[in-house]
Amino acid sequence: MFGSGKGIEMARRWMGWGLVTALWLLPTALPALAQDAAREAATAPATALAETPLAKANARIAVWDLPDVDQLPDDDYGRLVRYGRSVLVATPSHIGPNAADPAMRFAGNNLACANCHLNAGTKKFGLPLIAAAADYPSYSARSGHKATLADRLDGCMTRSMNGRPLPTESKSMRALVAYLELLGKSVPPGGKIVGGGAGRIAELDRPADPVRGAALYKENCAFCHGPDGHGLIRDPEAPALGYGVPPLWGPGSFNDGAGMNRLITIANFVHNNMPNGTSWVMPQIAPEDAWDIGAFVVSQDRPRRAGLDRDFPDLLQKPVDAPYGPYADDFTETQHRFGPFAPIRAALARLKADKGTVPNPNVK
Ligand code: HEC
Ligand code: HEC
Repeated sequence: MFGSGKGIEMARRWMGWGLVTALWLLPTALPALAQDAAREAATAPATALAETPLAKANARIAVWDLPDVDQLPDDDYGRLVRYGRSVLVATPSHIGPNAADPAMRFAGNNLACANCHLNAGTKKFGLPLIAAAADYPSYSARSGHKATLADRLDGCMTRSMNGRPLPTESKSMRALVAYLELLGKSVPPGGKIVGGGAGRIAELDRPADPVRGAALYKENCAFCHGPDGHGLIRDPEAPALGYGVPPLWGPGSFNDGAGMNRLITIANFVHNNMPNGTSWVMPQIAPEDAWDIGAFVVSQDRPRRAGLDRDFPDLLQKPVDAPYGPYADDFTETQHRFGPFAPIRAALARLKADKGTVPNPNVK
């Protein structure tokens, strides 16, 4: 279809701008229902179905029925919420390293929150944020402290966005929180939804293979994200406009402490959302391929975050796929990065039963 180099370049640009909307056009009929039931079972631990009529209805449709930001009145509240959505989708122009107001340059890269939290945080299995307001405040295993929604959002500011925390009282933070609170209005108390996170595809019983993943990346991803993984900035003269296609590694990407740098997260995200425009209703990348491609992407160079060895004061709370030590168990860092994870999970369950906690020696 796109034979010449110029054609490919144009397609990459076009897709970066246009394909996000394709999801809304996907058929939502029978296959969706069958897959939803299967997915519902597969994701039970993370996203159990709450017993409310609205939650039940929302579990059976391809896209959620959510409050419409555009229907809010043009008053202070409506404007704040709409500004919040804008910060989420046009992040670099508000708080990026090239934002017009130097005092607001809090993010360290030009990613948008919505490059990962797809469709402005409203896409099933596209790391949606509709339950975020209901999920906090809650205990954070990563920090060992109780976290507010603003604290959690700063987790993404310092890791996914490779930057600094946003001041709680800044307009951007207040607006993001207002937007997330509005999204959360249709979520039952306790935040139990079907379609949260990135999904839960079956795990491999072998380590994921970055070499096989490299070949699959070339075939399925390089077309948009580039052979060097650096993505496609919309306008090199105006980087605050963000990416048509965001980078997957390199200096402009998320850092090594980010959730997307964990294999289980990226493999599921890729299976359910990539190539961009794909949805969980009709995935394009087979689970086995998604694991190997994910392994390839997380093996590439990216910004490093200092002090990761102090994450998770209780090492038994550390996710099995955290790509950095120390660990409570004796498995190698390589196995924590690439799996298989089932033996690690079994060892952690034994340790939990025996010891209850394993304090992180780096946390004083
Ligand atoms: C059609 C072009 C296209 C293809 C092909 C594609 N992507 Fe993407 N990808 C995008 C776009 C555009 C976004 C941002 C989506 C948004 O902002 O709504 C994205 C977002 C992502 C993200 C989250 C943002 C980030 O920078 O980390 C990851 C991870 C990702 N893609 C991985 C992949 C992988 C792996 C493949 C190959 C299996 C792939 N993509 C194929 C266009 C594409
Ligand atoms: C590179 C991808 C990426 C980017 C960019 C990103 N995030 Fe995240 N975010 C994640 C991942 C992965 C998680 C963990 C999701 C999970 O546990 O289900 C997460 C979790 C969150 C949560 C907690 C959700 C919950 O219900 O627990 C919030 C809130 C959040 N992000 C907000 C933001 C905001 C605001 C921005 C922009 C300033 C942002 N994120 C940018 C990947 C990203």
